[in-house]
Amino acid sequence: MEYIGLGIDTTFDDTSIAILRGKSEILANVTLSQYKEHEEFGGVVPERASRKHMEVINPLIEDALKQAKLTFQELDYIAVSNYPGLLGSILIGVTVAKSLAYSLQIPLVGVNHVEAHPYANFLLYNNMDFPMIHLVVAGGHTLIFHARDHFDYDILGRSVDDAAGECVDKVAKMFGYPMPGGPIVDQCALTAPSDTYQFPRPVLNQNNYNFSFSGLKTAMLRFREEQPEALKHEADVLSSFFQSIVDVLLYKTFKAAHNKKIERISVSGGLAASKKLRQSFEEAAQDKKIKLYYPPPQLCTDNAAMVTCLAAYKFEQGLIDDLQLGVFANLS
Ligand code: KG4
Ligand code: ZN
Repeated sequence: MEYIGLGIDTTFDDTSIAILRGKSEILANVTLSQYKEHEEFGGVVPERASRKHMEVINPLIEDALKQAKLTFQELDYIAVSNYPGLLGSILIGVTVAKSLAYSLQIPLVGVNHVEAHPYANFLLYNNMDFPMIHLVVAGGHTLIFHARDHFDYDILGRSVDDAAGECVDKVAKMFGYPMPGGPIVDQCALTAPSDTYQFPRPVLNQNNYNFSFSGLKTAMLRFREEQPEALKHEADVLSSFFQSIVDVLLYKTFKAAHNKKIERISVSGGLAASKKLRQSFEEAAQDKKIKLYYPPPQLCTDNAAMVTCLAAYKFEQGLIDDLQLGVFANLS
């Protein structure tokens, strides 16, 4: 029997609802992005994000059910990401999820939002096998996992300060671009594909899989102050900056695959929507004979389909929660 799950993601500034049949048939996946709501403040305002989630979550659930041509009574479980993210935002999703699970008398499945990102690939590729190296490049987290199976993995490395996405967004903001900065920086990397300025490749030579991008952000700030004339070539500057990020992500991920003797890499998270990143990973994978898994752009950025997919795997194994499910801001 193919179970039907409704999943909710409100961890940051997107409200997303999905309905999934089995582990891969997306019946609905609707996301309302709040970027415009926060633009005038230059970043996400937690209190405002939380209020916006509250305003739109119920109409979005109605929309998703309408798209899927289903009623509440046909749902088998409710999925929700309960960490990490903004507490006030997660609370809205988790409270609605608990109310639905209780009133419909169906199981509740809590999931880790970061762990859910690679499931954008599991939605698409039924033949993905283990072991696997997952690179997650989301806005707030950059992580490399060594996954032996579902729910059986080690974190090999992570961002020790700014995540790659965070660094890209902050540098784009420095250049006067609104959130999210990733798409404009990616555009520069494609239209002006150069590494003219050779910015630092942070921790490239350290013998671990961690990332540290705050030094690169500072280098960009200093570069702006010290070489204002170079800013006439903004596309080249941003392109060179992004090349540093891509080089570090690529080097550490393929090093992990090589050292662990693993021939499969899955990339996911918002920054994976970058065409430049994708091209670079595809070239390296071809060269090193690695099987690369990559989601389409709409499944790279935050969405509830990936959350529901991870929940479907958990539900199948009886890994369900009760109404005591907690909410946590941090990953650990
Ligand atoms: O995974 P995500 O939607 O949110 C978190 O879980 O944090 O990732 C958001 C990040 C932001 O840094 C944003 O600038 C970046 O993904 N991003 C992109 C693109 N679309 C979103 N970066 C490069 N190219 C894109 N097309
Ligand atoms: Zn995310």
